[in-house]
Amino acid sequence: MRRILPITLVLAAMAPTALAEDGKNRVKKLITERCALCHGAQGEASSPIYPRLAHQNRIYLEKQLKNFRDGKRKSDIMNEQAKDLTDEEIAALAEHFSSQPALSHRIPRSKKPLEAVGWYIFHKGNKWSDIPPCKSCHGEKGEGNENLPRLAGQHKRYVIAQLKAFHERKRTNDNAIMHTIAKNLTELEIQAVALYVSGLAPEAKKAEAR
Ligand code: HEC
Ligand code: HEC
Repeated sequence: MRRILPITLVLAAMAPTALAEDGKNRVKKLITERCALCHGAQGEASSPIYPRLAHQNRIYLEKQLKNFRDGKRKSDIMNEQAKDLTDEEIAALAEHFSSQPALSHRIPRSKKPLEAVGWYIFHKGNKWSDIPPCKSCHGEKGEGNENLPRLAGQHKRYVIAQLKAFHERKRTNDNAIMHTIAKNLTELEIQAVALYVSGLAPEAKKAEAR
């Protein structure tokens, strides 16, 4: 007994570590074999139609993944991708993507006038059509906070698509606030603010605008 006891203790001490390793490997596999196809392994997003997840806020990511899994936020692609994820895997995926370096877009000179309209909407809103400044919730530099998405450096095509989805209530989870805002935005304002936030760069490296 005296000889066996230490071995049992050693095994007991090893078991959780071994399990944790398994879990980590599965999350790594999920990232490289699934998420990376569309979002890039570091969340950079291979195509501008997919959202960048790099440096997105952790709690926001966790919430969206759970909502996709549970069908609260509807997206044929993401409902399928998230349906078999456990809470632990979702937490690890959110941790991974939120800790990747922030990215941004370089806005070409020819688009500076449109970017300026976006600056106005983001910082001042539009008092004539009841649009609050985006920065009042999403932060002075579009960095968001724990519960609110980072908009800084996001692909503009994705931002445009989401603003339209909020307007049409096709984004089905917690859309109340953004529906009220998006329904009053004109096409010009949508294009402009999406361009503007894509170029915001708190802590980010810049790449060509897409
Ligand atoms: C086949 C392409 C594809 C794959 C693979 C994929 N996604 Fe997505 N993802 C999308 C699309 C498209 C959207 C936008 C959905 C919408 O329109 O609401 C999205 C949205 C998201 C969002 C919401 C981002 C935001 O800013 O609200 C998160 C989080 C996310 N995906 C995480 C993941 C994770 C984690 C994986 C891997 C387990 C993954 N995705 C795999 C295409 C993909
Ligand atoms: C009163 C607060 C508030 C204001 C003002 C606001 N938003 Fe939002 N926004 C939110 C919340 C809350 C969410 C996240 C909803 C959720 O949790 O699913 C959000 C989500 C978004 C998303 C989705 C991001 C993603 O990664 O999928 C976009 C895009 C967005 N807002 C753009 C804007 C723009 C542009 C403006 C200004 C015209 C604006 N918001 C003003 C609260 C606000």
